[in-house]
Amino acid sequence: MNILITGAAGFIGSSIAMHLSKNKNNRIFGLDNIDSYYSQKIKRLRLKELKKYKNFFFKKVDITDEEKCYNYIKTKNIKLIIHLAAQAGVRYSFINPSKYIDSNISGFLNIIFCAKKLNINRIIYASSSSVYGENKNFPLSEKEITKPINIYGVSKKLNEKIANTYQKITKINFVGLRFFTIYGEWGRPDMLLFKIFKSYFTKKKLYLNNYGNHERDFTYIGDVMKIINKIILKKFKNHKIFNICSNKPINILEILNIFNDNKQINVKLSKRHNADILKTHGENKKIKKELNFKKFTSFYSVYKKIFFWYKINKIYKH
Ligand SMILES: NC(=O)c1ccc[n+]([C@@H]2O[C@H](COP(=O)([O-])OP(=O)(O)OC[C@H]3O[C@@H](n4cnc5c(N)ncnc54)[C@H](O)[C@@H]3O)[C@@H](O)[C@H]2O)c1
Repeated sequence: MNILITGAAGFIGSSIAMHLSKNKNNRIFGLDNIDSYYSQKIKRLRLKELKKYKNFFFKKVDITDEEKCYNYIKTKNIKLIIHLAAQAGVRYSFINPSKYIDSNISGFLNIIFCAKKLNINRIIYASSSSVYGENKNFPLSEKEITKPINIYGVSKKLNEKIANTYQKITKINFVGLRFFTIYGEWGRPDMLLFKIFKSYFTKKKLYLNNYGNHERDFTYIGDVMKIINKIILKKFKNHKIFNICSNKPINILEILNIFNDNKQINVKLSKRHNADILKTHGENKKIKKELNFKKFTSFYSVYKKIFFWYKINKIYKH
């Protein structure tokens, strides 16, 4: 199948592209603007790995430019779009909120317009656990009320509303994925696990808000790849939303302590930031039932593997 992946130089996008490129029957078309939110070198290195696959193709395109998106996609006979390009990160949404409006909302609309014009009737898109905001009815099921507390969460909630609307007025079927703290090889350097690793190897200070008292429902990228594969095969109709979470929240300090037994990490604890959600904890019954995906990877079974992966990938330590 010919599949377009937006955000293909990103953490989740490159991982999915790698996974799907292993199937020779697929032709994977990636696009990304390779923005500078975090190291562009990391993004280029991911693309270098991907270009080893003869059935992977890439173009630098910004999804805020509908015409360029359309011109890239129009000749590719795309049957499915996996839309992951977005301005990620909660904290940065306090610094540069308009980027979230442009990339996450206008960008998403542009992708939908392209799909509509080209009769592409399937879009799998990234939402986020941030849509739940301060809802504390743990574990949060997909039916729970969404009340985001930052522009990032608002942009993802609006993505879901937009998908709802366009599902009704076009022939496009949508699947929205509410990702909960995805971690693993090729991970994002602005996320906790790789920040801990960076401090471990470079002795740079590790800043932890709210004195480290956060819990996150850590979800392994290997599980995300398998889940997306199953979603592709299942061909859901209309608009489905799934939590992508392991349903096993872990306290940040507990994770820190695993790597800090000799107190080699220079930790600086500080008070809570307005952007922070104290706990994320999703329910994953729906994904287990509808996709027959039963076993989520435990953090404790993979963290060593990821730590050693990080250790040999020097690019992350700069
Ligand atoms: N990683 C997580 O834990 C997590 C959690 C919740 C939601 N998400 C969502 O999943 C998706 C992928 O996240 P990720 O962790 O891989 O982030 P990422 O930042 O690594 O990947 C996003 C990619 O999109 C690209 N991009 C940004 N704006 C663009 C634009 N205007 N045009 C083209 N490309 C653009 C970036 O260059 C980047 O490579 C995002 O939509 C994110 O909001 C991720």
